[in-house]
Amino acid sequence: MNDFTALLALASIALFVFGLKRLSRVRTARTGNALMAAGMLLAIVLTLIEMGLVDYRWIAIGLLVGAAIGYLTVARAQATEMPEIVARFNGFGGASSALVAISLFWAVVVETPGDGTAASALGTASAATLVLSVLIGSVTLAGSILAELKLRGTIDGTPSIPARGPVMGLVALASLVAGFVAVFGVEDPALSSVLVLVLVAGSIVMSLALVLPIGGADMPVVISLLNSMSGLAAAATGFALNNALLIIAGTIVGASGLILTQIMCVAMNRSLVNVLIGGFSGGDAEHGEYGTVIAADPESTAMVLEAAQSVIIVPGYGLAAARAQNAAYALAQALQRQGAQVRFAIHPVAGRMPGHMNVVLAEAEVPYDMLEEMSEINADFAETDVVIVVGANDVVNPAARNEPNSPIAGMPILDAGNARRVFIIKRSLSPGYAGIKNPLFEQDNAAMLYGDAKDVLEHLTNELSANA
Ligand code: TAP
Repeated sequence: MNDFTALLALASIALFVFGLKRLSRVRTARTGNALMAAGMLLAIVLTLIEMGLVDYRWIAIGLLVGAAIGYLTVARAQATEMPEIVARFNGFGGASSALVAISLFWAVVVETPGDGTAASALGTASAATLVLSVLIGSVTLAGSILAELKLRGTIDGTPSIPARGPVMGLVALASLVAGFVAVFGVEDPALSSVLVLVLVAGSIVMSLALVLPIGGADMPVVISLLNSMSGLAAAATGFALNNALLIIAGTIVGASGLILTQIMCVAMNRSLVNVLIGGFSGGDAEHGEYGTVIAADPESTAMVLEAAQSVIIVPGYGLAAARAQNAAYALAQALQRQGAQVRFAIHPVAGRMPGHMNVVLAEAEVPYDMLEEMSEINADFAETDVVIVVGANDVVNPAARNEPNSPIAGMPILDAGNARRVFIIKRSLSPGYAGIKNPLFEQDNAAMLYGDAKDVLEHLTNELSANA
C-alpha cells in the first residue's frame, strides 16, 4: 500500500467511525448511515486498486446484481419486516466472508497447487483465520436463513434437541479439526477440499442446533448476535487476506453487534445465555383471566381528550403491525391544535427490533423533539392528563415491577399507569410478546379501546376534528 492509498484507507476508517457515532442519535442517524456507506464504497474501490489484476467486468456484474437484490428487498418491505431484512443482510455478509475465504483456499490449493499444504503457501496465521472465516461465515449464513424463516412463521415451533450443548460442542470441535487438517495437514487438493466441505457441513449443523430451539419471538436478539458474527467472519477474512481495512470494518461490526445484543438483553431483563438456551419462547406462558376491565368508545374518549392539557402516546409493536404511524401523528397534531402538549414515549425494546418505534415514527415524519426516551419521560407520567397506549403491552405492564415471579420481572417499564387517565388501543385482551396478563388493563384509571390501531386512531382524530 503506497502513501496515497494508505491515506484513503484511513479516510475510509474515519468515515466508519464517525458514521457509527452519528448512528447513536435519531437526529443524526441518516447522515451516519450515508457516511458509513461512503466509507464502504471507498473501501471497495481501494481493495480493487490494491488487488490490481482483477477482471472488472465480473465486479461490475456483481455490483449490479447485489445492488438490485438490495434495492428490491428494501423497496418492497414493510416497516414491520425490518428484523427479517436485517437477518437476510447478515446472512449475505457471512456468506461473502466464507466465500472469499474458500476462494483463497481454492486459489492456493486447487488452482495453483504447490508442494506443501495450504498453510505453507499462505502462512500459519492466514491459514488458521481462513478456517475460522469459513466456520463463522457459514454459521452466520445458515443461522440467518433459519432466523428469517422463523420470523416469517415458515418454520414453526421450538424443537428441543437432546444434549444440545454437548452436541454443538462436539460438532464445532469436529468441524474445526476437519478445517485445520485441511489447511495444515493435507497436501492432496482433493482430500483437503473434501475436509473443507466437512467444515461447511458441520457449520450448518451447528447453526441448526443453535437457532431451531429458540422461540420466534427471541429471534431479534439472535439476529443481533448473528450480525456480530458476520462482523467477526469479515474480520477473520481480513486476517486471512492480510487486509487491514476488512479487519477494522469487521471488528467494528462485530463489536457493535455484541453491544446491541447486550443492550437488548438488559432492556428485556434477560441474559444472553437465557435467550440462547431457549428459556423463554414468548407467547406460550399462561396469561391468566381478567377481572373487571372497562371498555371505552372513541366518542367518549374524544371528549376526555378535548379537555386534556398533556397527552403522552405510547407506541408498541401493534402500532407497527397496524401501520398506524401516520394516524398516530395525525391525532397528535389534532391534539396540538387544541393546545395540548403531546409527546411520544419510546421504550428501548418496544416493537420487535432496536429502534423499531423510532424508525416507524420517522416514516410518518413525527418531529424528533416529540420523541422522549423512557428515562427522560417516566417521571412525567404522574403529571399527565391522558396516556394513549397504541398496540403496546409488555412495555407498560406493571407486573414487571410488582410481581417477582413474572417472566418479565425486573424489566424496566414505562409508567403509563401513573397518568390520570389511560386509554389502551388494541384488538382484544390477548397478551403481547411475553405471553402474560397485563394488570394495567384492570386499573380504575384505565379503559380499553378495542380495535385495529389505525382504525381507532383515525376515528379519534375525526371525532376531535368534528367537535373542534
Ligand atoms: P407487545 O407486548 O408484543 O404487545 C403488542 C400488542 O399489540 C399485542 O398485545 C396486540 O394485542 C397488539 N396489536 C397487534 N396488532 C395490533 C393491531 N393491528 N392494532 C392494535 N393492536 C395490535 O409489544 P410491546 O409493548 O411493544 O413490547 C415489545 C415486546 O417485544 C417486549 O416484551 C420486548 O421485550 C419484546 N422484544 C423486543 C425486541 C426489541 S429489540 N424491540 C426484541 C425482542 C423482543 P391484540 O392482539 O389484542 O391486538
